[in-house]
Amino acid sequence: MKEKIESLLAEIESLVCKTENEIEEARVRLLGKKGEITRLFEEFRTVPSEQKREFGQKLNQLKTAAASKIEAMRSAVQETGSSKASFDLTKPGDAYPLGSRHPVSIVREEIVEIFRKFGYDVAEGPEIEDDWHVFEALNFPPEHPARDMQDTFFISSSANSILLRTHTSSVQVRAMEKLPLPIRIVCPGRVFRNEAISARAHCIFHQVEGLYIDENVTFADMKQAILLFAREMFGAGSQIRMRPSYFPFTEPSAEVDVSCNICHGKGCNICKGTGWLEIMGCGMVDPNVLEASGIDSRKYSGFAFGMGIERIAMLKWQVRDLRNYFENDLRFLREFETSL
Ligand code: PHE
Repeated sequence: MKEKIESLLAEIESLVCKTENEIEEARVRLLGKKGEITRLFEEFRTVPSEQKREFGQKLNQLKTAAASKIEAMRSAVQETGSSKASFDLTKPGDAYPLGSRHPVSIVREEIVEIFRKFGYDVAEGPEIEDDWHVFEALNFPPEHPARDMQDTFFISSSANSILLRTHTSSVQVRAMEKLPLPIRIVCPGRVFRNEAISARAHCIFHQVEGLYIDENVTFADMKQAILLFAREMFGAGSQIRMRPSYFPFTEPSAEVDVSCNICHGKGCNICKGTGWLEIMGCGMVDPNVLEASGIDSRKYSGFAFGMGIERIAMLKWQVRDLRNYFENDLRFLREFETSL
């Protein structure tokens, strides 16, 4: 009987069943009514009483070993069986909505990428600025209306005020102060102006401004750079025109219009019948501005330009209300899903 128990134990240990049927067969063979272990229990009755204790323990061990082995094999088979059932490798994957970039980001990157191709670096600076970088170094006379409380959000208005930048020209000042010459940068960023919110104005918007300073930089270079930009952004057939303008930090200054890409100059309601769309301000950097940042204005000259990203995006997609860009209405944002 002892050998029988030992050999059954060894058999149970090395038992391998792959299907529920095989497991059931093994169970019947070992633990069924006429199973080998059941039979051993019957035989146990004939064991002399002084050996009963020893054999009793052995038999119980054997029975537990058989039951737990069968249980373990059963759950193993069920596990693989159930995962097989729920894992159809031929099933097409679930499509997760990818989301989309914000139209302002799409246009910002497009503008920056165009200038990057022209050899411009990207420069960034703080949104909370001081009076020097936003106004003083940019040749704003103290009485200039842009310093007025109506336009600027002041944080502290002590001698050197702390304020929210009203344009990213402040980044250009920082670049002129610290970068080696020549400088060729674009400055994308968020700007703040204390304006009543309407379809055409917002107190927060985004700009990309540019600056190029080297020896012998001329107005013709600026015109060429802006024309190339306009053709990349609005199409190869685009034309530009410049109208005289005024900025404290540039002299001469101009506003740039691009030929309307909707009606191609014929006149439509987007260009209000003129055939032209205003896209940016620009000009030759005023010598006072160069000197304020420690650049020798007799040796160096440069041009600067600045545009509103929302405005360019409005022209690109004919968005009529600027507020759409800030309200995070998914119905609006989803229209740009394909523009990833
Ligand atoms: N800083 C000007 C603005 O915010 C734009 C500009 C930049 C104009 C550079 C001329 C040259 O409106």
